[in-house]
Amino acid sequence: MIKIAPSILSADFANLERDIQRISTADYVHVDVMDGLFVPNITIGIPVVKSIRPTTQLPLDVHLMIVEPVRYVEQFCDAGADLVTVHVESDTEERIHEAIAKIHAKGKRAGVVLKPGTPAEAVLPFLQEVDLVLVMTVEPGFGGQKFMADMMPKVTAIRRWIDEKNPGCELEVDGGVDPVTCKTCIAAGANVLVAGSAVYKAADIPARIAELRG
Ligand code: DX5
Ligand code: ZN
Repeated sequence: MIKIAPSILSADFANLERDIQRISTADYVHVDVMDGLFVPNITIGIPVVKSIRPTTQLPLDVHLMIVEPVRYVEQFCDAGADLVTVHVESDTEERIHEAIAKIHAKGKRAGVVLKPGTPAEAVLPFLQEVDLVLVMTVEPGFGGQKFMADMMPKVTAIRRWIDEKNPGCELEVDGGVDPVTCKTCIAAGANVLVAGSAVYKAADIPARIAELRG
């Protein structure tokens, strides 16, 4: 089954509890954490994850767009993240392994993320140890950007490797996913779709979430 992870980056931050309750028919709450260094934007951090944790039963999918994530992953786990994803570009290979191990030691799920310019092969050193791979379909940093259809061969290549080497691993896409591009992502092999503006701009949010499942 296709899972939907609405990104609260497109929510109203002054009404975050209300906007999280509006996505209760989704599968994950996607939380975009940006530090102003790894990406040219600053969003939300550990205290906000902690505050939203009691407002929903859904798992929190925390997407870290920060440098040296190994320094902070344990704090995000303690704040209530269920799944923490780190960018392969954000540190050395050794320290990405270390971040994954720290997330697992906290009893949480761990994933790696690839920016659009990063080749599919960059996932291979981590594939057997992660619970999810996230392929960015926009440059990370902002919601509301145009979907990059040219990322689909990367999704398909990673889907093949996941099926061979780690079939329990999920494959997520993030950026520009809407009722049209969701079909492209599903056909390419993604099983978790992040959508920010497509969910929060919809007049009927539960209907839009259902539509995005393909
Ligand atoms: C971008 C974020 C995305 C973003 C998606 O850096 O990682 O999660 O919120 O927003 P849309 O769906 O509007 O492209
Ligand atoms: Zn994201």
